[in-house]
Amino acid sequence: MAAASEAASLRVSASAGSSKHHGTQGPAAGHGRGRRARDALVFAAGVAAALLALVGTSSVLHPGGRGGLLVSLPVPVPGPDDGPRTFYDDPELSYAVAAPGRRLTGWDAKRAQWLRSRGRRNAPERVVMVSGSQPEPCPGAAGDHLLLRFLKNKLDYCRLHGIELLYNREFLHPAMTGYWAKIPIVRAAMVAHPEAEWVWWVDSDAVFTDMDFSLPLAKYAGRNLVVYGWPHKFFVRKSWLGLNAGVFLIRNCQWSLDFMDEWASMGPAYPEEHARWGKTFREALGDKDSDVADDQSALVYLLLNGWERLGKKTFVETEYFFQGYWKEVVDRLDGVAARYEAVERRACTPGGMGMGLRRRHAEREHLRYAAARNAAVSGVVPGPAGGGVEGWRRPLITHFPCSGGRNPMYSRESCDNGMRRALAFADDQVLRAYGFRHAAPLNDTVRALPFDYPAARARKH
Ligand SMILES: *[C@@H]1O[C@H](CO)[C@@H](O)[C@H](O)[C@H]1NC(C)=O
Repeated sequence: MAAASEAASLRVSASAGSSKHHGTQGPAAGHGRGRRARDALVFAAGVAAALLALVGTSSVLHPGGRGGLLVSLPVPVPGPDDGPRTFYDDPELSYAVAAPGRRLTGWDAKRAQWLRSRGRRNAPERVVMVSGSQPEPCPGAAGDHLLLRFLKNKLDYCRLHGIELLYNREFLHPAMTGYWAKIPIVRAAMVAHPEAEWVWWVDSDAVFTDMDFSLPLAKYAGRNLVVYGWPHKFFVRKSWLGLNAGVFLIRNCQWSLDFMDEWASMGPAYPEEHARWGKTFREALGDKDSDVADDQSALVYLLLNGWERLGKKTFVETEYFFQGYWKEVVDRLDGVAARYEAVERRACTPGGMGMGLRRRHAEREHLRYAAARNAAVSGVVPGPAGGGVEGWRRPLITHFPCSGGRNPMYSRESCDNGMRRALAFADDQVLRAYGFRHAAPLNDTVRALPFDYPAARARKH
């Protein structure tokens, strides 16, 4: 831990400047020297800032070294003495997936040792969310604007839930592009975040539409991979659409590193095998009408064929919309919002000053109110918490497959409208803590919320 006094005790004496100013005591030094003293202070502050920048990037600055700059920093400068050695000090450590001969082994012990060396306990289980998009601008007209809104949506969810968000736009392996790009970044995130128990990959075009729902991590105890699926399509029809690879939760452990190495080995990092896998998937998987090996087919194939070995550690989530297909969701969002409002209009907590859920609160207290809201709607609004095919609960994630290129199954317009609808639905949940909501689902104008909303209706400006 850096000392709290680190900034205050930074001492700089700048003999490289004018020695006349040396030793001035500050603006209160008085009389004609006041201005000079201020100048000296400004100068010293500038030097301090420059030195901090230097110290930040190198550890070669020695107190009393050349140049006449004397620096005394109580801030520990990172270096070989920064705590006990950990896996990071191993020159063979690789952040890369598909790095032949550099498999990371013994990860569970290495991670545990890192946690111990930093005096950290592993509870509660920390989650790092990882998302990303391509390095170049979006070709579509409003594509980048939508990406910004998708990112904002994840930022909102993460801020409310105490999750760290990592957004990546690089191809960490030159051949692992497009939908394959997530595997190298998820792998690197595990190594970069030994403090995280879980890495949660969420596609850029997946929208959080329930800001109240928290991952049921206790349910996933003993499992290492959580993925949304349709058991009949997956186990029986062996369809490449039986699981969705766009959102998954993976435990930061050796099993997962090995799993991702295996998954990556079907990808374009290995061109010859990749081409063969494409044909294999087409023959082995239902609904697959292309020879191109995509990440989702690879995931389905890997799990289907290795179920004996991998199934024990895999959880196929079906109970709530860990990711919900937008077509099943967006047309119902208005109805969902209306049902939640109706519950809140009635809700009163005994002894809670009569306002219950409607009580205004700091955003920091979101999770407490979220839990109360979930309790209030449960059993009254049909459907599972986190949303499902049936019922009217908010879906945790509404997933749009339409950010890249067109799909003949639906029009561009219906998809664009769907995205805007889902994003605004989420924004209203966030804006509420700031006293506003949208004038209408597809209207960017906001209205102030009256005290005791929604018992009192939102008013126009
Ligand atoms: C959006 O709502 C505002 C306020 O109610 C209204 O004045 C405006 O006409 C609406 N815009 C559209 C495009 O409907």
